[in-house]
Amino acid sequence: MCRAAASNIVMDPDEQLRTPLFDAMVGLAESRKVSFHTPGHKSGKGISTRFRKFVGPKIFSIDLTTLDEVDSLHKPRGVIKEAQELAAKAYGADRSYFLVNGTTGGNQAMILAACNPGDQVLIARNAHKSVLAGLILSGAHPVFYSPQVDERLQIMLNVTFDETKAAIDAYPECKVLFLTSPNYYGICADLERIVPYAHEKGLVVLVDEAHGPHLKFHPELPASALEAGADLCVQSTHKIIGGMTQASMLHAKATRVNLTMLTNVLRFVQTTSPSYILMASLDLARMQMATEGEKLLDKAIRLAKEARARINKIPGLFCLGRETVTGTLFSQMGDLDVTKLTITVKDLGLSGYQVSQILNTRYNIQVEMADPFHILVIVSIGDRQDDLRRLVEALREIAKEHASPAAPSALASEPLPVFAHEAVITPREAFFADQEYIPLDQSVGKVSSEIVTVYPPGIPVLAPGEIVTGEAVGYLRRMLTLGATVDGLDETNSWIGVVRR
Ligand SMILES: Cc1ncc(COP(=O)(O)O)c(C=O)c1O
Repeated sequence: MCRAAASNIVMDPDEQLRTPLFDAMVGLAESRKVSFHTPGHKSGKGISTRFRKFVGPKIFSIDLTTLDEVDSLHKPRGVIKEAQELAAKAYGADRSYFLVNGTTGGNQAMILAACNPGDQVLIARNAHKSVLAGLILSGAHPVFYSPQVDERLQIMLNVTFDETKAAIDAYPECKVLFLTSPNYYGICADLERIVPYAHEKGLVVLVDEAHGPHLKFHPELPASALEAGADLCVQSTHKIIGGMTQASMLHAKATRVNLTMLTNVLRFVQTTSPSYILMASLDLARMQMATEGEKLLDKAIRLAKEARARINKIPGLFCLGRETVTGTLFSQMGDLDVTKLTITVKDLGLSGYQVSQILNTRYNIQVEMADPFHILVIVSIGDRQDDLRRLVEALREIAKEHASPAAPSALASEPLPVFAHEAVITPREAFFADQEYIPLDQSVGKVSSEIVTVYPPGIPVLAPGEIVTGEAVGYLRRMLTLGATVDGLDETNSWIGVVRR
């Protein structure tokens, strides 16, 4: 299930203390050279006073541009090359790339690098909307297969080995397998079985590991995608560990992927003015994880475990744990990232959105995500015991106020997401087709030209090229009523883009 030890990290701990990019940036800032180049604020001298007063002056002195001293992201030969090489060693990759447009850009780059126009890609349907953007850009054809939804917990699982094997066998023309693991709730696919099978059948395996940049660094966490043998994976360093928002990494194994192509593609999908602050945060986050990640994660895991145990003692609440994932219900899942707390609140007669709002407005606690039945809490290396204590106490009060065992949950009959819709044209064809906006109510039977998601988690309820079903419209309407944010409809949430016929 989980790895025996973190000691299989092939890296030199002393070397991992180095932060070549950050050091070069500090050196350049301290040299106080006269700047006649971008950015226009010139080390903060031209920045708004209010901004400088709030954040302090130093940050602006390292908001740099591509200069000899600090290297170039798109043609790295100096400190960025060294920083990326250190990241590759820490993560066990043949090559690692710094990303400044999040895992969104990384997902697009993986698909563009691994697929030619017309290639068939087998995609687990719990994919983020950026994967569809990658398909639109590349012209690759998706073959979707869906993870099941657990009816009892009303939570979307990950894909199983059996489901994946069946899909691989049914679609032998697919050249690439795209998986998302862990999912938003920390539920991992069984990559250690899936990846070898996919490779045996000749597929290249791409993994959206947005929620897993920490996995490699603690033996109690699920195996990472690279450890399971994936060819490419992208991680949102900013979501879980010390990267600044937007900072992600793409890791590559060279055996099945053309790294020259990947490098070229990254030049297309990323800005020519990458933020050095974001890149420095990647350099430092890697150093921190490689040198003290296990100790820091020990604490996060302990805090999450204690909170989970205490929440599970509160009547009306349930917090998903490893025993559930490895029990009969979830027996084909790979593992659970125990730092994610998925708390089922439906027995309080409240939706996750309502509990999230109460936590925010009454207790000043903000959670990562809510859905009709759950709230999702990310516990990370930044959390303190007191933060978790406040959360548990707030939940205890909310549960006490709302628990009414006599009343059946008003949410028991809420619709679950349905993702298996018939596709009649490819996402790219639908995206570039003649389109019109029509009322959602009149859209059943039409072909969607939009990526429509409930956000978060951002999994497409409708993909471009798919027939709009009554079920999908009903689900979107219900989610809107419950307070979810829906992306991909018009501003009033009542019109949808479809292909004009
Ligand atoms: C599974 C998954 N993939 C990709 C993304 C996009 O990542 P980023 O925000 O780093 O672009 C997200 C964002 O929520 C996600 O949950």
